[in-house]
Amino acid sequence: MMANPRRNSYAISINQSSSDNNPFQAQTLTTLSSLKFFLKKPHAFPFLLSIFLLLTWVSLRLQHSAHFSSSFPHQKWNTPEDDRNANLVRFASSAYPSRITKDKRGWLLNPLAVAHDTGISGGAVACASVHLGEIRPGAVRGNHRHYVCNETFLIWGAKTIFRLENNMIDKGYAEVIVGADEVAVAASPSGTAHALVNVDPVRSTFFMGCQDSIIDYKNSSTDFNVWKDL
Ligand SMILES: *[C@@H]1O[C@H](CO)[C@@H](O)[C@H](O)[C@H]1NC(C)=O
Ligand SMILES: *[C@@H]1O[C@H](CO)[C@@H](O)[C@H](O)[C@H]1NC(C)=O
Repeated sequence: MMANPRRNSYAISINQSSSDNNPFQAQTLTTLSSLKFFLKKPHAFPFLLSIFLLLTWVSLRLQHSAHFSSSFPHQKWNTPEDDRNANLVRFASSAYPSRITKDKRGWLLNPLAVAHDTGISGGAVACASVHLGEIRPGAVRGNHRHYVCNETFLIWGAKTIFRLENNMIDKGYAEVIVGADEVAVAASPSGTAHALVNVDPVRSTFFMGCQDSIIDYKNSSTDFNVWKDL
């Protein structure tokens, strides 16, 4: 018989009474019982107090972040009237079957046809110029007013504010939030300012802008930085 002196001495040094020679289990039992012993002592009180304080802090943080995200209007607080004022129509991107998702591959749409069919008016009816792009978290696109083209937008991918100049509203604009799980089509008629703001903490907004004429940025056919708060 070959003895293994190293293994035996290791097990014994951890727990003399361990009879099954399993050092890992022996160590776990020792740790648990010494923790129990520690918690019964009076000097465990500051330790327990700090755990309690940590849990309080964590729950306050969670409450704060819930409050923070609800301080932005979200689609649940955007009424159909808000969407109409912003000249926008939205669809749940994961709903199936739906107006934009006919089969399980996912959504597919023609934004100009959707705008036409849902009564979103004043956008482009043909694209002379198309822009596709990304808006990273916290970034803004638009915030300008084109005087020589109508524009139709498709927006998806992240929680995004769409703001459209609208003089029927006291503030002078209508504003809605497109959810990360939504696809929106919106239209900005010629002479109307618009802005897209990514308010998502992590995701990128993607958008398409279809314009019915090619803008000559050398002349003054566009006003920039219309809203100072963006
Ligand atoms: C924009 O739309 C209006 C009607 O809504 C149309 O009269 C105009 O020709 C369109 N295009 C431009 C470049 O303004
Ligand atoms: C700017 O360019 C557009 C199209 O190229 C043109 O229709 C418009 O009259 C121009 N505006 C000015 C102020 O030159």
